[in-house]
Amino acid sequence: MGLKTAGQIDQMRPVGRFVASVLTSLQEFAQPGMTLRDLDTHAHDMIKAAGARSVYLGYHPSFGAMPYPGVLCTSVNDAALHGLPSDQVLAPGDVVSVDFAAELNGWVADSAVTFQLPPHTPEAQRLIATTAAALDAGIAAATVGARMGDVSSAIGKVGRSAGYGINADFGGHGVGRTMHEDPHVPNLGRPGSGQRLKNGLVIAIEPWFMAGSDDYEIDPDGWTIRSADGSITAHFEHTVALTDAGTIILTARD
Ligand code: MF3
Ligand code: CO
Repeated sequence: MGLKTAGQIDQMRPVGRFVASVLTSLQEFAQPGMTLRDLDTHAHDMIKAAGARSVYLGYHPSFGAMPYPGVLCTSVNDAALHGLPSDQVLAPGDVVSVDFAAELNGWVADSAVTFQLPPHTPEAQRLIATTAAALDAGIAAATVGARMGDVSSAIGKVGRSAGYGINADFGGHGVGRTMHEDPHVPNLGRPGSGQRLKNGLVIAIEPWFMAGSDDYEIDPDGWTIRSADGSITAHFEHTVALTDAGTIILTARD
């Protein structure tokens, strides 16, 4: 694991704040009638204004059928992760996950939030609150000296006790000079297992839960990940730095 010095963690603060400000702005901006591409354009405008750089645009891991075409992942209702900017129009009651990462001054931060456009439904609000609580539990478990399995099991326990579907094929990751670094941060695990967490570790913790089963399907585009049973999904993510003096949430929103 690539550990960061206290000075480097300080250098990551501006990009963390920038990523947080984009998510806050998107949540205020999103309205029924807009397309997912409108959200992407809004984020892109903020990138340009800040002199930042997108780490999504053109990103091409082996699973994608094409390089990523936007700066933002927008995953609505049954879509959980990696939803592409498209002409899909937002509707009242939609459960919208926005996942955003960017680079500023050579450092990357990655964060995601899920919200429901009014009218709110109890099912979606419970899923959203539970997934946010799982992120909080994961962050609380991510302390110097703990093990990765403590973080994973804290996340998984919150989701499982609410009866939600969890799939560990996609999870959190190290963050730093690039978006995806070692180590992997699974959303399921056993307490006391895995590598010991060290001072200077910077990771993105990102629970995503499905209201139904543990199974997902991938769209023909190779990107969009949906619940296999069509149930709604939620996703929250923060980039956090572990230090002997405590854990810093670099992408905290105020
Ligand atoms: N930000 C996502 C994650 O949390 C990855 C997005 S992949 C991209 O790991 F291609 F859309 F960039
Ligand atoms: Co991430």
